[in-house]
Amino acid sequence: MKNLSKYILLILFIFSCSNKYEGVLADNGMVVSARQEASKIGVDILKKGGNAFDAMLATELALAVSYPSAGNIGGGGFMVYRKSDGSTGALDYRERAPINSTSDMYLDENMEVIEGLSMIGGLSVGVPGTIAGIFEAHERYGTLTINELISPVIELAKKGVIVTEKQKNRIEENRKYFKLVNKSKILFDNDFNTNDTIKFPNLASTLERIMEYGRDEFYKGETAKKLVEFIQNNGGIITLNDLESYKPVWRDPIIFNYDGLKIISMSPPSSGGVCINQIMKMIEPFDLKTFGHNSSNYIKLLVEAERRSFADRSHYLGDPDFIQVPVNKLTSESYLNIRMNDFSFEKPTDSNYIGYGNIEINESDETTHYSIVDQFGNAIAVTTTLNGTFGSKLYSNELGFFLNNEMDDFSSKPGYPNMYGLIGGEANKIEPQKRMLSSMTPTIVEKNGELFMTLGTPGGSTIITSVVQTILNVHEFNMTMQEAVNSARFHHQWKPDSIRIESELFDEKIKNNLIKSGYRLNDKVSIGRVDGILVKKDKKLEGGADKRGDDTAIGF
Ligand code: GLY
Repeated sequence: MKNLSKYILLILFIFSCSNKYEGVLADNGMVVSARQEASKIGVDILKKGGNAFDAMLATELALAVSYPSAGNIGGGGFMVYRKSDGSTGALDYRERAPINSTSDMYLDENMEVIEGLSMIGGLSVGVPGTIAGIFEAHERYGTLTINELISPVIELAKKGVIVTEKQKNRIEENRKYFKLVNKSKILFDNDFNTNDTIKFPNLASTLERIMEYGRDEFYKGETAKKLVEFIQNNGGIITLNDLESYKPVWRDPIIFNYDGLKIISMSPPSSGGVCINQIMKMIEPFDLKTFGHNSSNYIKLLVEAERRSFADRSHYLGDPDFIQVPVNKLTSESYLNIRMNDFSFEKPTDSNYIGYGNIEINESDETTHYSIVDQFGNAIAVTTTLNGTFGSKLYSNELGFFLNNEMDDFSSKPGYPNMYGLIGGEANKIEPQKRMLSSMTPTIVEKNGELFMTLGTPGGSTIITSVVQTILNVHEFNMTMQEAVNSARFHHQWKPDSIRIESELFDEKIKNNLIKSGYRLNDKVSIGRVDGILVKKDKKLEGGADKRGDDTAIGF
């Protein structure tokens, strides 16, 4: 009998292995991004002999052309790398608050937030960092010439991009805002149907100037002057001085161990690395495999760790160049043990009795992520954003790109007590040249001292929880990269006190169990769009391109 059950288990194991749904496989290098055009341009650079940092510059710009709702040159981002020799690092090219900004710039005379002011139009724009960031990474680690990297992108902008169904819908949904914000008709006011081609001749000209004159064209040259004039004509306060003084910053990534893995992720001003460190360390003592994937106990445990981490995020995190972020304390074992002392599977902890802050995290879910592994063994994870879908909705026809609304990632009204007398958000208040807090979590994972995974996602605050779940899907639940990114997700962020859940994808019994235990569920159609690359045991690369978007993995 014992032998028979062993035999059945073996058959089930073989069956489950043979049924694994793998993504694109490759032997040498791979790019996974939100658009096929961008992944292809990135991979072509690798095939030409370029490395991951070369491919970064080309892929990022190709996303600005093919995925203008989040891909950008008018925004900013973060890159985490692990080179083939095992060295790691992180680049912060997040936007900064303009020099003329003030902590109350979005408040009326009664100190109430003026709705929309930090979200759309010229005043919502932070000083863009993307061009400085990709040039900085290239200058330090790239090998091909700028001309070789930008030429294919200019060609793409001239030839145009085929509109997908999802893209068409996104443009349609935002058209009313384009009309509201822009003084004249913009390219995206035109009716586009699925399979139409959109050409970007003005963006091509801007890129041609950047190719010719380099990074400074964007920050000091003709483009800079036109950009400043345009933003100021539209109610913004960015000056030439803001652009000229913009600098990306190399930072030490957040590094921690989880169950034999080494996780390398983005440090402040992103909250991503600190939060995934906290969450994963809080759940590490539990045997997740025995709970089962997306079981109610698994969800409860993760949700309670997320709740505690997001409460800390709201109070402690901000730009480390302006405030002291107590990273070591927040991620220490003793602190996290205390934090989980009152955790119980029986009932939720009330968010009102946890931690700090009076602000709800209110980030939009439009950002984009790409992952690259090159044929030399270097890996990068890059998340870049305009913040909202099409950012501030302010589009320069002349320059051919949208501007971010990243100022909305600051706390517009810090220091005010909520109904329980809790104060928060000071750490992330607006100050001239400060970087706004982010959730972007580009992450690289090592196993046994070797590259294992590179991943990340858009999704505002859900970025953090999506990255954690995707790593756990692979590591704890033995999923392929493609299965891991497609898998159903849930999210809790302390306030509002509810679990966002891709409801259609979860079992009714599990949802009922959570509700019975006292959790509030909030249906969400889609959480994140994770793009990752897994190094398999046989050293092949497997791409995971999230089915929720038009995301595409291309390898060679
Ligand atoms: N704007 C999204 C983020 O930085 O998290």
